[in-house]
Amino acid sequence: MTGLIPQNFIDDLLDRTDIVELIDGRISLRKTGRNYSAICPFHKEKTPSFSVSPDKQFYYCFGCGAGGNAIGFVMEFEHLDFRSAVEELARKSGLEVPQDSQPANPMLQQKQKSLYEHLDRARQYYQQQLREHPQRQSAVAYLKKRGLTGEMAKAFGIGFAPPGWNNLQKALVNSDTDQPQLIDAGLLIAKDGSEETYDRFRDRIIFPIRDSRGRTIAFGGRVLGNEKPKYLNSPETPVFHKSKELYGLYEARQASNRITRIIIVEGYMDVISLSQFGIHNAVATLGTATSKEHLIKLFRMVSEVVFCFDGDAAGRQAAERALENAVPCMEDGRQIRFMFLPEGEDPDSLVRNEGKQGFDEKINEAKSLPDFFFDRLLEQTDTTSLDGKARLSKLALKKMQPLPNGLLRQLMLEQLASLTSLSVSQLQNFSATQESHKREGNTGSYTQGAGQPSARPGHRKPSIRQQRVQSPVEQAIALLLHMPQLVKLIKDKQLGELDIPNGRLLLDLVQLLKSSPTLTTGGIIGHWQGVDDREGYQEIARLSAIELPINNEQHLAEKLKGVLELLIKQKQEQNLNQLLEKSALSELSTDEKRELAQLLNQNLKQMPK
Ligand code: UTP
Ligand code: MN
Repeated sequence: MTGLIPQNFIDDLLDRTDIVELIDGRISLRKTGRNYSAICPFHKEKTPSFSVSPDKQFYYCFGCGAGGNAIGFVMEFEHLDFRSAVEELARKSGLEVPQDSQPANPMLQQKQKSLYEHLDRARQYYQQQLREHPQRQSAVAYLKKRGLTGEMAKAFGIGFAPPGWNNLQKALVNSDTDQPQLIDAGLLIAKDGSEETYDRFRDRIIFPIRDSRGRTIAFGGRVLGNEKPKYLNSPETPVFHKSKELYGLYEARQASNRITRIIIVEGYMDVISLSQFGIHNAVATLGTATSKEHLIKLFRMVSEVVFCFDGDAAGRQAAERALENAVPCMEDGRQIRFMFLPEGEDPDSLVRNEGKQGFDEKINEAKSLPDFFFDRLLEQTDTTSLDGKARLSKLALKKMQPLPNGLLRQLMLEQLASLTSLSVSQLQNFSATQESHKREGNTGSYTQGAGQPSARPGHRKPSIRQQRVQSPVEQAIALLLHMPQLVKLIKDKQLGELDIPNGRLLLDLVQLLKSSPTLTTGGIIGHWQGVDDREGYQEIARLSAIELPINNEQHLAEKLKGVLELLIKQKQEQNLNQLLEKSALSELSTDEKRELAQLLNQNLKQMPK
């Protein structure tokens, strides 16, 4: 599952590593009951929400959701890729990471490292061309026309890809391995069905894209005139994932290490111009919408994010999407604001016209997330009528569902109450019924964090430690993570296909535990780490952190049986509904009729008398 490093080596490595010792050497841990706690090293906080479990050999932060096993911690803390983290831990335990015997593999092992090397050689090459190439004048003139100083060109590593199809290739391909590496790095493109390649970037201004450690991972290239496409970007590669990277983040941190606010703009030139005018804390997405991953990354560094949008229809639409991704990230203490530029302006033109002061004023006028949230809704509803108010409540509560519990949620409920003349508790009740309709078959759930009283029905739970009611699937996963040996209660094929959220994850977990029933939680997390399934990994880490109120095997076994029954019933109901729907539209086959009769029969038996 982990590509080149055999899984049994990883299991062995995790066995020999004590996560408490590992983490305690880097941040200071305090014993709190069975676990240890600390101020989270991955986001800013005042009170500790980071916890480490010696029994399960994993860590989890209730504040920012970071979590994983020993390997994950080293990756996050040291900014290492998976293999390097394994290597570091192996060194500490006196183990040697096994080399794969197949001839192609030593090269593959070096792949990421040498991708970075090739990307860096390319960056140097492009920069050199801007200084030395015979045709550099057109590029220099273009940058001058745009008002860019030499100092900025240097700070952002701007370069020039000269006209012609094979410049980079001639300069950088010296050995047999260089060519495939440069293809993988996205710099050369192979011609169909031949070994020939050509340069991706030709006759363009080059903007190196760097990761937060400053390594060049990709490039953007702009034409000098009006040709299309205006910008060309590197494709996705093993070291470049558009939806995770932000242009200018490294440079922003270089300019100041005490940034508390980040401004998200649209373009490369916007970032650079703002920086030239003394606004060093702007970053740009790379032609994509701002993702949750972007925001999580930023909130590990700063507590405030300001989105900057064009004042036109496209800008408003982009703002809508950004709002949707922002809502789930709004833990207390984080601030998100929305700023709209006058129509026809972008940050580059605005800062050039109005200077730093003018731009700063616009930032300060930016709308807070709650204001933007309600303003948008009020544009869509008429609150003078009763049904308009009902519509507003319904829409607002729906959009607020992903909002973490906390003060902000409470304040927004109060604001909604005053807009609709409903009371906060009426809204809370309404929102609770909406949620329980959504999550069928919820049997009263476990809460996150030890010793928290469970919430009263009909009231939102107050603490982030308890957020997220668990669905039956999630409860089953949590139970198995807590006590892997319970897997013996699940018969082969018993669950069939689970076509519900996290159903796949449960099936994968069951399969894994059937084949290795002695894994610890940390070991299980290890299996998700190697495969490129970031979401599954995070879900497993999150569900691992659920504290079960009771630790007794018999009790947990009963609990799991109950949850399995629910799951099976839920599946039957799904089948039943599908068959009923189908029968209304078309004739059922004999088999389907038989199944329907059976399901209806069962359903009647289960009806309360
Ligand atoms: P804009 O078209 O708003 O360009 O694209 P800009 O940043 O103002 O560029 P200048 O001022 O004309 O040089 C914003 C961003 O969208 C992506 C790029 O990341 C760009 O910075 N984009 C745009 C592309 O990827 N491809 C394109 O063809 C255009
Ligand atoms: Mn522009």
